[in-house]
Amino acid sequence: MTTRIIGTGSCPGDHKVSNGDLAEIVETSHEWIFTRTGIQNRHLSTELGTSGMAARAAELACEDAKIKPEDLDLILLATSTPEYCFPNGACQVQEKLGAVNAAAFDISAACSGFVFALQTAGSFLASGTFRNILVIGADDLSKITDWSDRGTCVLFGDGAGAVVVQAEERGCFHGIMKADGRKAKVLLCPARSEGNFLTGKVPQMGYISMDGQEVFKFAVKKVPECINQLLSEQKTAKEEIRYYILHQANKRILEAVAKRLDEPVEKFPMNIGEYGNTSAASIPILLDEMNRQGKLKRGDKLVLAGFGGGLTWGAILLEW
Ligand code: UT7
Repeated sequence: MTTRIIGTGSCPGDHKVSNGDLAEIVETSHEWIFTRTGIQNRHLSTELGTSGMAARAAELACEDAKIKPEDLDLILLATSTPEYCFPNGACQVQEKLGAVNAAAFDISAACSGFVFALQTAGSFLASGTFRNILVIGADDLSKITDWSDRGTCVLFGDGAGAVVVQAEERGCFHGIMKADGRKAKVLLCPARSEGNFLTGKVPQMGYISMDGQEVFKFAVKKVPECINQLLSEQKTAKEEIRYYILHQANKRILEAVAKRLDEPVEKFPMNIGEYGNTSAASIPILLDEMNRQGKLKRGDKLVLAGFGGGLTWGAILLEW
């Protein structure tokens, strides 16, 4: 028994912000941002927030899959930016969609979240626990971005992407998930201060802090290692892979991964130029764009790979 994606949808933030727009609020330039990252624009959410973008992407994925929200058995939402501690974001999506028969919970693995959530869905399908699962990656990073820190604020965008998955007899679906909590400080965002009424600290959300060069080195080492391990375990040659759909963090990271895998960069589709780094949403947004542009054909072998805070990373080999 394997897992197949039967529908996709996406919803970027509603407000497009160019590099030039950011140069008006921090000391930066289009030239610096574009040459170091490949980013030209990002779309920030001013209205919908994480659950609103997630619900819209989910609606489109259900339409594409020709499935009614009532037929969903489970909603998995990969996010680092839920609106509440509880209820979880997946329950908010369930309510907005009217997916009254679905269980719903969030998965937190930063930019690897979608890859982790999709593998979780695959296990539930393989065990026969659920039949129709909605997997969403959604993040509203602009709300946890320090807009005076030029080292991070130019990188991120908001958005959501969703897929509906079902079990299927033929095809392939295999994954790897990894984590290294010792490297937490390289990329983190405190949820709230550690105080209570005894210590006198007021709870508040923190902002993203990042050691960019360490994250860069981690990604270009671990992602190719992980993909090589996956392909060798599954006895799959690189020539069989149609596309590598990677988390869109930085054009130079994607180019370096392609080089280390000794694969042509044309097999690494990119939309980072338009959306920036949308964390857990970047892979499903790209998948949806490619699906709607007719670039994915039944039977194409794809590798999805995510990496980010935790540190976490992982990859999936699947057949479209
Ligand atoms: O989902 C995973 C999330 N994170 C990532 O993927 C990040 C991975 N890392 C990166 O993409 C890169 O490390 C960055 C794009 C973040 C930074 O590029 P870099 O080539 O590593 O630059 P740097 O941090 O070494 O900074 C070089 C210079 C510094 O100035 P000095 O010290 O050389 O005078 C920075 O202060 O660039 C300066 N700088 C900027 N200048 C203009 C940093 N940010 C900016 C900026 N505009 N936005």
